[in-house]
Amino acid sequence: MKKKLSALLLGVIFVLAACGGSEEAAKTDVAKDPEKLYMQKCSSCHGGELQGAGSAIPSLEKVGSRLSKEEIEEVILNGRGNMAGGYLKGEDAALVAEWLSKKK
Ligand code: HEC
Repeated sequence: MKKKLSALLLGVIFVLAACGGSEEAAKTDVAKDPEKLYMQKCSSCHGGELQGAGSAIPSLEKVGSRLSKEEIEEVILNGRGNMAGGYLKGEDAALVAEWLSKKK
């Protein structure tokens, strides 16, 4: 009887630990989703569908066919023309640049 109980407890602890771990992984995924970062920092100008706005703000729908990942990252970090740099930094900038470079 005692053995069964401790085996059951061990099982419960294992399940709880497994759940906690996966929840944490899910949280990091959300923070590192380039689409979410774009929606937070870029969509106010470039639009929720990457469509741009009028003649002043370029569409990013096919930006990957014009610019490489490195060139996009450069624009995000340092700005260009009428766009200021620094909306995203470091790893976040690289992640969004990579995501946009696949839009062709
Ligand atoms: C305040 C408005 C604004 C915000 C916010 C903004 N941009 Fe821009 N973006 C512009 C404008 C204006 C240009 C055109 C710059 C120029 O004069 O060459 C531009 C140009 C670009 C280009 C070059 C497009 C091309 O076809 O050459 C890229 C890439 C870009 N933005 C990405 C981003 C990303 C990624 C973000 C978010 C991190 C962002 N932008 C946030 C206004 C904005």
